[in-house]
Amino acid sequence: MQAHIDRVLIDRRAIADRVKALARRIADDVAETGDGGELTIVPIMTGGLIFAADLIRELPLKLRMRLITVSSYRGATTRSMGARLEGQLPEELTGAHVLVIDDILDSGRTIQLVRELIGRRRPASLRVCMFLRKRIESAMRVAVDYVGFDIDDEFVVGYGLDYDGYYRNLPDVVTLKTEVTG
Ligand code: IMP
Ligand code: MG
Repeated sequence: MQAHIDRVLIDRRAIADRVKALARRIADDVAETGDGGELTIVPIMTGGLIFAADLIRELPLKLRMRLITVSSYRGATTRSMGARLEGQLPEELTGAHVLVIDDILDSGRTIQLVRELIGRRRPASLRVCMFLRKRIESAMRVAVDYVGFDIDDEFVVGYGLDYDGYYRNLPDVVTLKTEVTG
């Protein structure tokens, strides 16, 4: 797997520092709601898994987690082809302060879908935290509340992000050699 890596874009130490900083901001914002400080974390599977796991351990809050799975029909391609919810949306989001967590903002389709679906459950508040955001128009025009890193428009894997289901376990965010992605 190491042989497939082209270069390391964001290493694990930079990620850990940024996760801590994001968690501080999130905790401060939750404290300001004056609502008992309880949060419902909604990680989007599967890409948001690693980020969410690290982030919640930096959040000294009373929180619950409700998972949702969105597939973006990608497979062995690096292009977005739309988003679809797999399975059910959790019932318990009504009246909750919800924080959606995902890996990367690209075409914006995933987060737009999730926002609309969760919005129908009438949460008390709905915020979005993205680990990465691509510096492209489709991504930059979507309003999100927290962003880990802005990156150039290239295909990345690691720290939860996959190519054809693989490489999610890489601890750093990396690009792959062109022989791998075709
Ligand atoms: P969007 O719906 O186009 O904004 O894309 C969101 C989803 O596409 C992410 O949650 C990822 O699963 C996937 N994705 C977008 N860009 C990348 C990338 O550079 N590497 C890996 N997955 C990506
Ligand atoms: Mg995803």
